[in-house]
Order: sequence, then structure tokens, then C-alpha cells
Amino acid sequence: MPVIPFIIYTSGYLSIFLLAVSLLIGPLNLILRRKNPISTYIRRDIGIFGGVLGIIHSVVGLFMRFTGKPWLYFVKEVGDDFIIRYGNFGLANYIGLFGALILILLLIISNDYFLGKLKAVKWENLQRFTYLMFLLVIAHSIFID
Ligand code: HEM
Repeated sequence: MPVIPFIIYTSGYLSIFLLAVSLLIGPLNLILRRKNPISTYIRRDIGIFGGVLGIIHSVVGLFMRFTGKPWLYFVKEVGDDFIIRYGNFGLANYIGLFGALILILLLIISNDYFLGKLKAVKWENLQRFTYLMFLLVIAHSIFID
């Protein structure tokens, strides 16, 4: 397999896998009646690793189909004009972009500095965007064709 698609598929699927593990740790703690703290280093590290892979995937992904013209994922060139790219492919790209932006926000706040600055409740509420982001990237991987 050529190197760019290889990077895109491995980073994309590994990212989804690690993000799923990070999301399952909380519910598993509850089911097994173990302590379920606001933040643990292992869950955070798994989430950060999954997040970084997702960003690598997104950046490399922007160069897979339209070399040097990444905006063509989102718009179509019609003569001298651009129109929004509709259809499953366009939808998948917008959803992926939105997921990647949430991922960046989550990566920025996933450290002790922001946990202290935002305080536990606000920080946890922001971290809950992980669920939305996860649904978006699953939809992205289904709609992309
Ligand atoms: C701007 C953001 C993104 C772009 C431009 C993008 C781009 C792409 C591209 C080009 C493909 C390969 C499509 C193909 O030709 O078959 C792909 C597939 C995939 N993407 Fe993304 N992606 C983005 C965000 C994400 C994020 C944030 C994740 C996960 C965390 C993700 C997960 C996946 C997965 C799992 C696949 C494989 C789907 C399949 O098997 O067909 N993507 N993406």
C-alpha cells in the first residue's frame, strides 16, 4: 500500500480505537464499582495519544485526493467559481473537520494547567465534548467513500 493511504488508515483507525478505550474507562469503573476520579493519567494519556493520531490523520488526509489543493475537500471548482461540496464525500469531510476542531480543543485542555484553571466541573463538562466528537468521527468514517 502506498505510504500516504497507509498513514491515513492506520492513524484513523488507531485513533478511533484509543478514543473508544479512553471513553470506556469511566463506565467500566462504574460497572466494576471502582473509584472513578475526574482525571487519571492513564486515561488522559490514552486520550491524548488517540487525539494526536486523529490530528495527524486529518492533516495527512487533506493531501490524499487533491494534492496541493486541500480546500477541494469542502468546495467544488465550477469554472471560475466554487460551490459547496455536497453528497456523502462532502458531508464526511465537513463532519471530519468539525470532529478534528473539537479534538484540538480537547487536546489543549487535557493537562493539569487547564484542569486547575477551569476547575473540575467546567473542565469535565468540556471533556464531555469527547462523546460528540466520537460520534462525528464514526459518522465521518461511514460517510467517506
Ligand atoms: C479535516 C479532518 C479530516 C479529513 C480531511 C479526513 C480525511 C480522510 C480521508 C481522505 C480518508 C480516506 C478516504 C478514502 O479515500 O477512502 C479518511 C478516512 C477515515 N478517517 Fe478521516 N479525515 C478527517 C478527520 C478524521 C478524524 C478526526 C478521525 C478520527 C479520529 C478520522 C477517522 C477516519 C477513519 C477511521 C477513516 C477510514 C474510513 C474507511 O475505512 O473508509 N478522520 N479520512
